[in-house]
Amino acid sequence: MIALSTLLLILLPLTACHVKVHLHARADNATASSAASDQPKESTAPCVRGNNIGSIYVTQPNISSYVFVGNNAIVEWRYSPNVKNKPKTVDIIVYRESNPTTSQTVIVGGLDVSNGATAWRWHVNQLPAGVYKLHILGKKVAVIGAAGGIGQPLSLLLKLNPNVSSLSLYDLVNTPGVAADLSHINTNSKVKGFKGADSLGEAIAGADVIVIPAGVPRKPGMTRDDLFNTNANIVQSIGKAIAQNAPKAHVLIISNPVNSTVPIIAETLKKAGVFDPRRVFGVTTLDVVRASTFVSDIKGTDASKTKVTVVGGHSGVTIIPLLSQTGINFTQEEIEKLTHRIQYGGDEVVKAKDGTGSATLSMAQAGARFTNSLLEALEGKKGIVEPTYVYSPVAAKDGVAWFSTNVELGVNGVEKIHPLGELSEYEKKLYAEAVPELQKNIKKGEEHANKA
Ligand code: NAD
Ligand code: LMR
Repeated sequence: MIALSTLLLILLPLTACHVKVHLHARADNATASSAASDQPKESTAPCVRGNNIGSIYVTQPNISSYVFVGNNAIVEWRYSPNVKNKPKTVDIIVYRESNPTTSQTVIVGGLDVSNGATAWRWHVNQLPAGVYKLHILGKKVAVIGAAGGIGQPLSLLLKLNPNVSSLSLYDLVNTPGVAADLSHINTNSKVKGFKGADSLGEAIAGADVIVIPAGVPRKPGMTRDDLFNTNANIVQSIGKAIAQNAPKAHVLIISNPVNSTVPIIAETLKKAGVFDPRRVFGVTTLDVVRASTFVSDIKGTDASKTKVTVVGGHSGVTIIPLLSQTGINFTQEEIEKLTHRIQYGGDEVVKAKDGTGSATLSMAQAGARFTNSLLEALEGKKGIVEPTYVYSPVAAKDGVAWFSTNVELGVNGVEKIHPLGELSEYEKKLYAEAVPELQKNIKKGEEHANKA
């Protein structure tokens, strides 16, 4: 039996979404060289050590790495008495550091602290030796339009995501059923359904991430812009609710036309004085997902490893695949065919669904991928890059304020916007075609938001 360890971590203030860890630690029988004092330290930097079982340190506000070589330990977490806004529940999992997404997670605790508890303790038994992470599950994700064609499979994928602790499902219809159904899945997040406009504020309050697939989809013969009249008002009302109830949330917009709905939400947040360009994202992931698939279809590459940068916006000519940057050789004919297929991939699905909607399942996967990348970045994982339509300097010289390129995500959302890189002559032509369309789409969205 390996010696037990006691660790005290003081968390200030631990809300479900913005966890600032100011901690001090104490380890019984400490032997680690980087011994921390028993006095509270206000720091987010590593400052805790363990005893002969290894060390614990905070790598990011709500993640600690915990190294131990035995199969039995005690872990304690404790709030400082002056913590405000304690969460009602706190769940902690411990997982193998080597592969947090696929390795088996071991539940260390799930604690109801609504009765005012300030400290709690778990016995961790029967873990093989190794390096683990203690993870306070603190991220709340809300899905708006959760009962829809995208909303349901997206919510399912998020229910399976260990980075989500609280899943809030909002729609005008059917969310109680969707939430009840998903709540039976034995993952560690809590699911709650909210139905009807009166419950939107509660659904999103305290959310770290709000994903919006609310609104009508296309039918054959329609452009995405044809959805504007209906979806503009839907996203604007959601934007108003976010400004009031979750002004610090990261907002991921799936509803079409993305080129315009994103500026609508941004302008709505601006009017309320809470716009932060690092936290508003148009979800364009499906374009790169498709591009990888279509390129691999003709080149026989592994689709899951084929990376294609796609920039611009999310409709027709505004979708600009940068095939010259893939490192794969294409004939001009292949380039033109692939470009067209990537630009109009959405139409293939709309046509095949024959009036019953547009892409839902591939979109759910793409949306879940982007949401997960953001959650990982928010928790401090470095080097996470995803394409997304953001407030960007990249095309600003051409009068285009919102533009999708690869973006490095970080603890505050947008961390670094990648430039376009070198373009072929053909791609320069595509860019020139995209610019006036993007200008028009963005202006339309901004004017809509500002006329009310
Ligand atoms: P859907 O009709 O199946 O579902 C939409 C859901 O939104 C419905 O459940 C509806 O009740 C709900 N809704 C409507 N108004 C609402 C409101 N005010 N508040 C909350 N919920 C509301 O449609 P879908 O197939 O899921 O598509 C949703 C949107 O996503 C469409 O606009 C579609 O064009 C878009 N989309 C975008 C991408 C992309 O790549 N960004 C991909 C596919 C679809
Ligand atoms: C897509 O690209 O599949 C979506 O934008 C839905 C659509 O209308 O094509």
